[in-house]
Amino acid sequence: MTGAGRGIGRAVALAFATEGAQVVVNDVDAEAAKEVVAEAKARGARVVADANAIGSVDAAEGVLRTALDAFGDVDVLVNNAGILRDRMLHNMSEEDFDAVIGVHLKGTWACGRAVVRHWRPLAKKENGTKHRKIVNVTSASGLTGAAGQSNYAAAKMGIVGLTKTWAKELGPLAINVNAVAPAALTAMTEPLLTEPAAAEARLARFPLGRYGRPDEIAPAFVYLASAESDYVTGQVLCVDGGLVI
Ligand SMILES: NC(=O)c1ccc[n+]([C@@H]2O[C@H](COP(=O)([O-])OP(=O)(O)OC[C@H]3O[C@@H](n4cnc5c(N)ncnc54)[C@H](O)[C@@H]3O)[C@@H](O)[C@H]2O)c1
Repeated sequence: MTGAGRGIGRAVALAFATEGAQVVVNDVDAEAAKEVVAEAKARGARVVADANAIGSVDAAEGVLRTALDAFGDVDVLVNNAGILRDRMLHNMSEEDFDAVIGVHLKGTWACGRAVVRHWRPLAKKENGTKHRKIVNVTSASGLTGAAGQSNYAAAKMGIVGLTKTWAKELGPLAINVNAVAPAALTAMTEPLLTEPAAAEARLARFPLGRYGRPDEIAPAFVYLASAESDYVTGQVLCVDGGLVI
């Protein structure tokens, strides 16, 4: 589980732990990851922290190694780590573009590749009898675009492309690949509501009239990681108060 030190990732890691899963709590913010690990351990869960900075093949292989060293195997990958560097196109630097594409798109691709390289020989031996799951994280921006987010929207649309492509490639190995498009009040979205007029306009786009809480998003991940979703693949599940309809 990448980017699990706070926000949606933290809520998902704790929900997985509550369900009895063994969880790697990855976050580039090592202290935040350790705090989530302590919280999950207090609930009796088997969890381990990992501080690899998602965005490279090395980091992806590092997270996988953490999982295999701690638990011997891995059944679910959640690609959640993310950053924003919002700028209108004319003001967006190459660095802003590369940073966002690197964490979201390359990071998701690299973690997917690492875990699938581990899973392929196992899945071939089992002849499709055991399901494994990848849950990616996209966004309303990745479905409809968003002014000021050409880096983020391109990355999140790219993640939809990875999700659908991997679902087709990996279905024969019983690897389900889906994505969640969430909307929750977190450190990422709170700054968007600081200016009252902008906040009012933003919230008016939600039929349910508000941002969700991370704990309202987490059950969708639990579902997509569970046997209940064994016949679901290549889908984007919007858990967003109706933002994308
Ligand atoms: N909050 C929303 O409304 C919303 C909407 C659409 C999509 N999303 C997506 O949901 C995911 C989680 O967002 P959030 O709102 O919880 O944000 P957040 O900023 O609260 O949490 C993101 C976490 O990712 C970590 N992170 C950042 N870069 C990393 C890296 N290179 N390696 C490892 N960890 C890294 C951060 O330290 C942080 O703990 C992101 O992919 C985001 O794009 C969020």
